[in-house]
Amino acid sequence: MFVKKTIEDIDLDSKTVLLRADYNVPLDGEKIADDYRIKQSLDTINYLLARNVKLIICSHLGRPDGKKNLAFSLFPVAKRLKELLKKDVEFAPDCIGEEVKKAVDKLGHGQVLLLENLRFHAEEEQNSEDFAKQLAELADIFVQDGFGVVHRAHASTEAITHFLPSVAGFLLKKEVDTITDVMLNPNRPLMSVIGGAKIADKIDLIHRFIEIADYVVIGGAMANTFLMSRGFNVGSSLYDQSELPIARDIIRKAAAQAKKRKFSFILPFDVVVSKKIDSASPLRIVDILAHSLSEIESYPKRPNKMATHVENDELILDIGPFSGAFIAGNMQSVNTVVWNGTMGVTETKSLLTGIGPYSHGTNLLVRSIAGEFGNRPFSLVGGGDTVSYLSENNLMNLFNHVSTGGGASLELMAGRKLPGVEALENK
Ligand code: 3PG
Repeated sequence: MFVKKTIEDIDLDSKTVLLRADYNVPLDGEKIADDYRIKQSLDTINYLLARNVKLIICSHLGRPDGKKNLAFSLFPVAKRLKELLKKDVEFAPDCIGEEVKKAVDKLGHGQVLLLENLRFHAEEEQNSEDFAKQLAELADIFVQDGFGVVHRAHASTEAITHFLPSVAGFLLKKEVDTITDVMLNPNRPLMSVIGGAKIADKIDLIHRFIEIADYVVIGGAMANTFLMSRGFNVGSSLYDQSELPIARDIIRKAAAQAKKRKFSFILPFDVVVSKKIDSASPLRIVDILAHSLSEIESYPKRPNKMATHVENDELILDIGPFSGAFIAGNMQSVNTVVWNGTMGVTETKSLLTGIGPYSHGTNLLVRSIAGEFGNRPFSLVGGGDTVSYLSENNLMNLFNHVSTGGGASLELMAGRKLPGVEALENK
């Protein structure tokens, strides 16, 4: 249960509110490539406006390293917010200073002002008390609703709470409640599907799921490191040499769990390879399991060596169809799935079909989670790259909860405290 005060627990009537959102959205020039985070902030904004507040919104965008750089301006967000709210949104060219104070003075009740990128000031990431105080002077109440950034102890997430009554917005509460509930009381069996490039980014998550889940499925480039750690040649695939001992350690831990209880740790046993990441480059499937079997059993007719080995100039770009089908099959018996990280290189577009040449593994996973093969588990999806893939392909509404947080959702799932949540007032 969420133990922090929310906007429903305080008197907001006609107050000036500083709302911290996470509008760190992908931009394509001046165009917003994905407005999911903006849309998810609307419930809180509308609730606040219905209480006749003067609403000041602040956020960061990208990593401009403490310098003003208009490539990271929040101006495009102001435009999109105006369209979504169907009302004017004023924009201030800075987030502190005289000009901002004047803009706040001019702001009427029920009106919205978006401040320029907080990270144009180095003090934001330094969690500066002085910078936070200047932000706090603009308002009477602070509302934290930027779930995606609460794993950072920054001036607008932590220090600001030293100067204003500070409560949570609806998005923050929904994210924390949903993720915590799945981690603490999952409707079992629970499957965790983890992809992405680096094991190090998700190591705590993998350990936690080995302890609590019934299935842990590994895909994406990190699977290459696991395969390599078991002695399988991954050719020119992306993998991390320095992570081989970590991979071995995880495999040992998973094997120990499987001895204690019913638990499956699933690595891909076939993969899609190509010589180039290019939609025109020919693909083939390498059957890793056949490789192992042919080594163990002396079949009179062994599979052709090529069919069971990745060549040195080839790259693993997706899980293969047998692994995909195996995951989809196991999905039929689970009641909850937590998914983080795509199975293959999903950003390459195909010349021929809507599905990219290396997106079939991810696509099969999506279809199985969405219930296409019968069972439809409760689904929680987190992580920036996964969400971009879903959003680009209009798949968001197939899932029960798609988190707006990347790092924040991973840390919460791994059981860490989030400084931007801890700092809020208790109920
Ligand atoms: C995110 O997109 O994960 C958040 O907005 C945090 O951004 P950061 O990783 O640059 O702090």
